Amino acid sequence: MRSCRAGGIALVLVAAATGLAGVVLRAQDGPKPYPIYTADHLAGTMETLGPNFAAAVRALEAGDYPAAKERLARAREQLATTITFWRQRERDDGIGFVRTAVRAMDDLDAAMSVDDVDAEVASAFAADVQATCNACHAVYREPDPEGGFRLKAEALEP
Ligand code: HEC
Repeated sequence: MRSCRAGGIALVLVAAATGLAGVVLRAQDGPKPYPIYTADHLAGTMETLGPNFAAAVRALEAGDYPAAKERLARAREQLATTITFWRQRERDDGIGFVRTAVRAMDDLDAAMSVDDVDAEVASAFAADVQATCNACHAVYREPDPEGGFRLKAEALEP
């Protein structure tokens, strides 16, 4: 009796172990888990990058280039992550807007990184950045009836 029961337990354990192995195998065979960059992620990132970029422009206008560079670096990092949103939805124009804005941010950073900063040149790059923000907003952003802005969902439809 006793050995019989032990055998039963062993069988259950083997079944559980092979079942587990099956799960692990299936997980490896299936598509890789792929985190979705949601509209909420995009809205949250925009909400933090907006004030960072605005602060960078204010510091630039005040001639405080180290402060401007610091806030710009944060805005750049935040904006760069949003490219995932447009990639996952295969929006080439969105990808292009992000790339163009990030490139203009790099130009602006470089213009503020020299010993003798040319304020006009730096301001022109800041205006390029802002123009690209606006260009994407014109296509993909709309006022939210509850206040602020929201993604223009129909602009994402093919
Ligand atoms: C590729 C497109 C794209 C680019 C480039 C872009 N944005 Fe946005 N932005 C959006 C979309 C879409 C929304 C609406 C999302 C939301 O708020 O729900 C938005 C919303 C915002 C908001 C409003 C957040 C809120 O709801 O209160 C701010 C502020 C903002 N963007 C700032 C910027 C700035 C500054 C830049 C440039 C440095 C920029 N964005 C570049 C697409 C873009």
